[in-house]
Amino acid sequence: MRRDEEGDRVGFGGHRYRTVDAGTRAFVDSFGDYTGFLGPRLVHARRLLSEDGTLYVHLDYRESHYVKVLLDGIFGRDCFLNELIWAYDYGGRARDRWPAKHDTILVYARRAGAHHFDRAAVDRIPYMAPGLVTPEKAARGKLPTDVWWHTIVPTSGAERTGYPTQKPAGVLRRIVQASSAPGRRVLDFFAGSGTTGAVSRELGRHFVLVDDNPEALWVMRRRLGEDGVAYVAADGSPLPPSEG
Ligand SMILES: C[S@@+](CC[C@H](N)C(=O)[O-])C[C@H]1O[C@@H](n2cnc3c(N)ncnc32)[C@H](O)[C@@H]1O
Repeated sequence: MRRDEEGDRVGFGGHRYRTVDAGTRAFVDSFGDYTGFLGPRLVHARRLLSEDGTLYVHLDYRESHYVKVLLDGIFGRDCFLNELIWAYDYGGRARDRWPAKHDTILVYARRAGAHHFDRAAVDRIPYMAPGLVTPEKAARGKLPTDVWWHTIVPTSGAERTGYPTQKPAGVLRRIVQASSAPGRRVLDFFAGSGTTGAVSRELGRHFVLVDDNPEALWVMRRRLGEDGVAYVAADGSPLPPSEG
């Protein structure tokens, strides 16, 4: 979306924004005053985190450096844990520069050192050069580093919901496995198609999902069903189970 006083949606600070169809990024959450929009939300994100909780902020590479400075200010530099690079290989390729094929995920702990991080719970991945390690190690696989090679959601297949900015369950699964424990609660306040909820449920976590796009809500509802899930409007009133 772009800031535009004639725009079709009202966003942070009561400003109007125009929805811009940008291909697969039709619901792109990029505003002119990006950090002004994100700042108050990140302050609340920190407030809502448990003492051992961790925040993952998934960003476009064009915005990540601004948001990292913002997060350093909100959390403190000592609470910065990682800059994850999610690398994929899909879509068109620029001819005038290196094709951009990664997103950035910034990771901050509410309290570094006290944060939950269960590396043993994370699915292991194949070694790039299995011939360089023992057969036992090769069979066990290795823990992911801060560079994650992972395909986007395939354009066809069971995982696909049709939501344009849907993220792969494999990326979210790794995050939930490492940074929350079974029975704990996971919050995603830019939830889109509800991947965080689907993965959290699969892994035995509770979840709270927020999105201001009605289409996202319909997709989440189709994906997560009614069983054990409450759908409520911003004022707390229950939503009727129709897409109308
Ligand atoms: C990149 S998508 C998230 C995709 C999600 N991870 C998934 O797997 O489907 C970002 C979402 O943030 C939502 N969003 C943007 N601005 C918002 C706001 N002010 N309040 C709530 N949701 C917002 C958009 O509607 C969009 O669904």
